[in-house]
Amino acid sequence: MPPTFQVNEFLATILLLIILIYFLKKFTTNYWKLKDIPHEHSYPLLGNIPDILISNQTVPQYLSTLYKKYQNQPYFGIHLLHKPALVLRDPETIKNVLIKNFTKFSDRGFTNDKKADPLTCSSVFAVKNPEWKALRMKLSPIFTSGKMKLMVPLMRECSDSMVQYLEKKTLQKTVDVKDLIGKYTTDVISSCTFGLKPTSFDNDEKEATLSAVGKKLFEKSLLRKMSAFCYFLAPAIVKIFKFSFLDREATMYLHRLFWDVLQEREKGNIKRNDLIDILIELKNQKDENSIKFDGITISSQAVSFFSAGFETTSSTMSFALYELAMNVNVQNTLRQEINETEEKFGELTYDVIRNMKYLDMVFNETLRKYTQAPFLVRECKEDCFLEPYKLKIDAGVHVIIPIAGLHSDANYYKNPDVFDPERFNDESKGGINPYTYLPFGSGPRNCIGERFAHLSGKMGLISIVKNFEILKSSTTPTRLTFDHKALLLEAEGGIPLILKYIHHNMM
Ligand code: HEM
Repeated sequence: MPPTFQVNEFLATILLLIILIYFLKKFTTNYWKLKDIPHEHSYPLLGNIPDILISNQTVPQYLSTLYKKYQNQPYFGIHLLHKPALVLRDPETIKNVLIKNFTKFSDRGFTNDKKADPLTCSSVFAVKNPEWKALRMKLSPIFTSGKMKLMVPLMRECSDSMVQYLEKKTLQKTVDVKDLIGKYTTDVISSCTFGLKPTSFDNDEKEATLSAVGKKLFEKSLLRKMSAFCYFLAPAIVKIFKFSFLDREATMYLHRLFWDVLQEREKGNIKRNDLIDILIELKNQKDENSIKFDGITISSQAVSFFSAGFETTSSTMSFALYELAMNVNVQNTLRQEINETEEKFGELTYDVIRNMKYLDMVFNETLRKYTQAPFLVRECKEDCFLEPYKLKIDAGVHVIIPIAGLHSDANYYKNPDVFDPERFNDESKGGINPYTYLPFGSGPRNCIGERFAHLSGKMGLISIVKNFEILKSSTTPTRLTFDHKALLLEAEGGIPLILKYIHHNMM
């Protein structure tokens, strides 16, 4: 090959690269500037990702820092890789996205690549409209109050087994409550979703398989975090590398388990008042016009309930126990409410638990201070103007709602770092703008499992607070720090506490 050709080819490649970088730079850095929207300076192709890496922050921490930085703005722009994203700070604009303009913002902008991860991508969390609407309509009846009432005995079996275990095992030793509660939520979800007998507390030495699977789902690794991030922001990378959203081995284990149980139940015509009963009903419905509820569509929902409910509920309960140990007055008031309610009503039914006001205040304040889902994402499907600022949003732009930032904003919550359940008492809660308090999201695409989370979380807390004094130990940190490697909010080093058994007078 003549050398001049090689030189020409080399120069052409360099020129092409310069042109490409020039256009990418122009595109990425000018998008928000041209719209006259306050924004973070961003890098070509990489957007604001280098800022996140340099600051050694997680995406949620980075968003919270920016939330404070732009405190006088109702919204601001960033770039996640090459994609422009608009972060909303103004509650009225947030309401307009989640509720009033829902049809234009009905999808999460979550990658839907059924070849890369068929189980996650067939779940109600991941699918896009119109598939989402049909699926959600079918699944919503699973979580009605009537169905929750029927699940109370299943949850009680799990909380009783936890108390028996604690009575025998802890004997005033320091325990990591995150680990302990992980066993309880595994039992609850596997009993209610997979129809399994609760066994997590049966064998102390050898960790029960399902607890281990639950942990593996949210395995702390750079690859897991990166793939989860790509699912929200970089579908092309998911496609190329066939990344799975959660650990593939763990989700496949749950998929196979679900089908084994379902087949056994169908064969024996066994009913248990759990989610499997309802999923079997949906599978056997003969409605020609409706979506087919079979194969992966059905097991994917059970797996997604497990993954969406396991870590979120167990973390919320563990943080609540931590705050009860740090705030003895709150703990005593809660125990008093539990004892008085039991005296008055005897057995704690679904309706009785729902009406326990102080318990609800403690649970809500925990969800505020320890926000499990730090932000929501919605993808704009068609160009639109949002009130009250007549804000023009282009189709394809991701809108981010920074829940953790709103929950710790002193304009909405005085002394936001203080754990104060009184923010949610009858008098004060009326003053909270609902679009500044979004632990379960809001609008038609909110958390489908909110009732389930409240019920299972509260039943577990009632059992512990009634039977055990929750005490700080010498290793309990006075201030929690959070694990950067974890996918969701997780305390670094666990939550060590002492649970001291309360001997009840048997008169
Ligand atoms: C404390 C516990 C929980 C918290 C804080 C939580 C929070 C959330 C949030 C913030 C969303 C997104 C909502 C939105 O985009 O507006 C969500 C969605 C979802 N959650 Fe939960 N969740 C919890 C427990 C559960 C449980 C127990 C289940 C199932 C049994 C569950 C199943 C789901 C599903 C399936 C979705 C997707 C709904 C859809 O796209 O239609 N979650 N959750």
